[in-house]
Amino acid sequence: MKSKKESVTVTAPCHVGMIMDGNRRWAKKRLLPRAAGHLSGANNVVPIVDCAFNCGAKIVTLYVFSTENAGRAEDEVASLIDLIRERAEPMAKKLFEIGARVKYSGDRSYFPQDVQDIMADVESHGASEDAPIVNMAMNYSGRAELVRACRLAAESGSITQETIEQNLYTAGLPDPDMIIRTGGEKRLSNFLLYQAAYSELFFTDTLWPDFTVKELKSMFEEYSHRTRRFGKS
Ligand code: IPE
Ligand code: IPE
Ligand code: MG
Repeated sequence: MKSKKESVTVTAPCHVGMIMDGNRRWAKKRLLPRAAGHLSGANNVVPIVDCAFNCGAKIVTLYVFSTENAGRAEDEVASLIDLIRERAEPMAKKLFEIGARVKYSGDRSYFPQDVQDIMADVESHGASEDAPIVNMAMNYSGRAELVRACRLAAESGSITQETIEQNLYTAGLPDPDMIIRTGGEKRLSNFLLYQAAYSELFFTDTLWPDFTVKELKSMFEEYSHRTRRFGKS
């Protein structure tokens, strides 16, 4: 007979959104420059995504850089763009090794052409249709995404929930079942505003570079015990 503990089934979320917050505080605590915090945060992406997929998730949407982040001090923005330039491809290679495909969501026209070219290259990498997806939100704004989707829907001559959804960056993907925010703040900061309508929200004080697979697994465990009613029962 199975013990009580063994009989618990952990239902992993299909789509997990992650607001990877706390990089600068992580650096400040160590008297390191901000860029070191962002680098340490970038180094944490593959292990966390790998764990999410191993637990059964199929899509991970990562909040990498918000449109509002572009308004930070010039040197910080420059170092973030340099980090994307240097790390996007090696990170994608590691993600390909674990069988994932990578896409980017957001207004990429903001980035220098060479960075846009790297993104296009990474996205063109072949993968099977059922490969898990890493969706990186880059120069992303939930409000701008919605305005764009409404505009495109209007141009198509029909503004309905369906046509708006068809024009979101996440077209064809299910809504996030779960959104995790590290770094202690309890807000969405313009992340997936439309898609988060019924997402289960998880907040932790852990700063993103310190976020571990152990903590991720315990959130998945808690997720599996939550009751999602979608307003219906
Ligand atoms: C998240 O960490 C990374 C980006 C927003 C690019 P922050 O840079 O916001 O770090 P904190 O939240 O100020 O510590
Ligand atoms: C959200 O974090 C954006 C990313 C993690 C990329 P912020 O640090 O920009 O959000 P606020 O300013 O605390 O709301
Ligand atoms: Mg922050």
